[in-house]
Amino acid sequence: MKEQQVTEERKDKKGVLYIGIDLGTSRTSIAASNGVRECVWSYVGYPKDVVSRKLLKKDKLFGKEAVEKRLSLDLYRPFQSGAIKYTTAEEAGIGKEDLDKHLQAAKDLVKHALTLAKPRKDELIFGVIGAPARASLQNKQALMDACKGCLDSVMVCSEPFAVAYGLDLLDDTLVVDIGAGTVDLCRMHGTMPSADDQITLTTAGDWLDQQLYALLKKKIPDADFTIHYVKEIKEKYAFVGDATDPVLVEFLVSGKPTMFDITNEVRDGCRMIIPPIVTAIHKLISSFDPDFQERLRNNVLLGGGGSQIIGLGRVLEETMVKMLGSGHVTHVDEPSFAGCNGALKMAHDMPEEYWKRISAATTAA
Ligand SMILES: Nc1ncnc2c1ncn2[C@@H]1O[C@H](COP(=O)(O)OP(=O)(O)OP(=O)(O)O)[C@@H](O)[C@H]1O
Ligand SMILES: [Mg+2]
Repeated sequence: MKEQQVTEERKDKKGVLYIGIDLGTSRTSIAASNGVRECVWSYVGYPKDVVSRKLLKKDKLFGKEAVEKRLSLDLYRPFQSGAIKYTTAEEAGIGKEDLDKHLQAAKDLVKHALTLAKPRKDELIFGVIGAPARASLQNKQALMDACKGCLDSVMVCSEPFAVAYGLDLLDDTLVVDIGAGTVDLCRMHGTMPSADDQITLTTAGDWLDQQLYALLKKKIPDADFTIHYVKEIKEKYAFVGDATDPVLVEFLVSGKPTMFDITNEVRDGCRMIIPPIVTAIHKLISSFDPDFQERLRNNVLLGGGGSQIIGLGRVLEETMVKMLGSGHVTHVDEPSFAGCNGALKMAHDMPEEYWKRISAATTAA
């Protein structure tokens, strides 16, 4: 876990609002000790020119509203490229200027999420934020920078660890959190997970959208559609087992809405997400203490938005039985909030002196 005190002085504040934030590539979720739980799509838009500013009457738009008004906006998805969360700017292929814009958008998004948590003016805000399992120190620092000026004290923890912590599954569990930017795996064995206990894959929801887009373009080359539309289709119809009903969807062909049966494309595309996950599960189990491997095998926990692909748990189980002899997979109850709920629980469980100590240490530094 990495920690930092945000420098802003707030001496007049008395109470503490604890918060857990999941700064997701696709959704930012926040849970607070005052009972608020909110979720916003991780999009930030800034009006493109004076006309759009006049039309929209705002300087910044967030979430679904930003996507809907995207033609008038410079639209950012601050965590999409991965540079902030799990790789370097060079690896993600974005320049310094672009990275700064993403960081600014991330800051604005955090600020917006915090307003949704409705802190009182006299409260200090102590927060735990989730980061991908294998995020580097540099990435964690970037996430904390995004919270600078908004939170009084911040800690960063691994996303799948937060999921497990929130559900009190601290041992004998293999968490698989299928997000938009990353699939994060973490084996829990009663202590803080180390780097060897965790794997981050980039074959997650966004990647799946691209695979589906390519399959659909191949099937209907004359149709006009965007990646946003493909994501919508996926979230409505994604499945990996045997089809029960055909997937019939309208596409625009030369401006004319036309219905297509895309059952096979949806299934074949969604199945692409499975092999890397099974390989990673296999790696984490087979490299574990042999006396405990069976327990892990029989306790795989799926979370994250991507875990809602229909039939995924059963197909993963079948594949594990073939590869590893057995496998039992369950789902978290609330895929969108499991991460921030766990982060909030961690924030609560950390003694107040601990938060203050971080604060004192950093102020002195
Ligand atoms: N019903 C569904 N079927 C399949 N995929 C879905 C469904 N609902 C949401 N998703 C996908 O889940 C992903 C979002 O999941 P989640 O909110 O856990 O990700 P995130 O936390 O924003 O991303 P990350 O953890 O990688 O930063 C998106 O790719 C979204 O399209
Ligand atoms: Mg996530």
